[in-house]
Amino acid sequence: MPIRPTNLKRLLGDLFPSVIRFSRTHPLAMLVAPAAENNKHYILEVLRARGFGARPGFALELASGSGQHVTLFASDLPHVLWQPSDIDSACLASISAYVKSSGLQNLLPPLRLDVLQPLQEWPGGPWPQSCDLVLCINLMHISPFTCTQGLFKAARDLLKPSALLVTYGPYAINGTITPQSNVNFDASLRRSNPDWGLRDVATLKELAKENHLEFLEMVHMPANNKCLVFRMQ
Ligand SMILES: C[S@@+](CC[C@H](N)C(=O)[O-])C[C@H]1O[C@@H](n2cnc3c(N)ncnc32)[C@H](O)[C@@H]1O
Repeated sequence: MPIRPTNLKRLLGDLFPSVIRFSRTHPLAMLVAPAAENNKHYILEVLRARGFGARPGFALELASGSGQHVTLFASDLPHVLWQPSDIDSACLASISAYVKSSGLQNLLPPLRLDVLQPLQEWPGGPWPQSCDLVLCINLMHISPFTCTQGLFKAARDLLKPSALLVTYGPYAINGTITPQSNVNFDASLRRSNPDWGLRDVATLKELAKENHLEFLEMVHMPANNKCLVFRMQ
């Protein structure tokens, strides 16, 4: 199937249920996800409240998507060097467009990183124990569980001692999903792909333990989402 703008929009619509428009400044490159516009300031406050950004550091965002989050974080936390990444070509093009138009010196061009691949196969690096923060927004429920496992395994290898893994999204808590809108969202994800769906915080705590990460806290966010904060031992 040729990738025409309309096809591309449909494909991306599948990837990001909420991506609805392309920027006028960078047609076909800068994606704009309304959900990211809405949640990026709240996620920034979670990072700030944990003292992240007060000192120089290196942050890796996995599954950056459009690039909206990382561009705000790099602008508002300028002591940190930010590395965006994604697996998808249209997302990488979008992130590149945001990076260029931002002119920020502390925002690196995106890398194609796949959380399913072992670190040794990632471009860039050296990666082991290089990160003060690994950030992952809205990946776990819109990908197979193997991606969640890959994320925690990568965080184990990427993070310096005491460094943070922060994830954001909707989650189940001890087998229960609330409110009804999240139950419906989970059902629609599973209809699209039986391997997708909201992950349970209890499962993630176990996965964290297996990967030498300590669960620190769950922060309640607007729109029935949560931030989960883990610390490398
Ligand atoms: C729902 S989007 C979230 C994007 C962005 N973080 C946000 O919240 O707007 C999920 C993202 O995960 C990426 N992704 C899917 N599988 C991946 C993998 N195996 N490794 C890295 N990224 C992946 C997709 O390309 C997509 O950009």
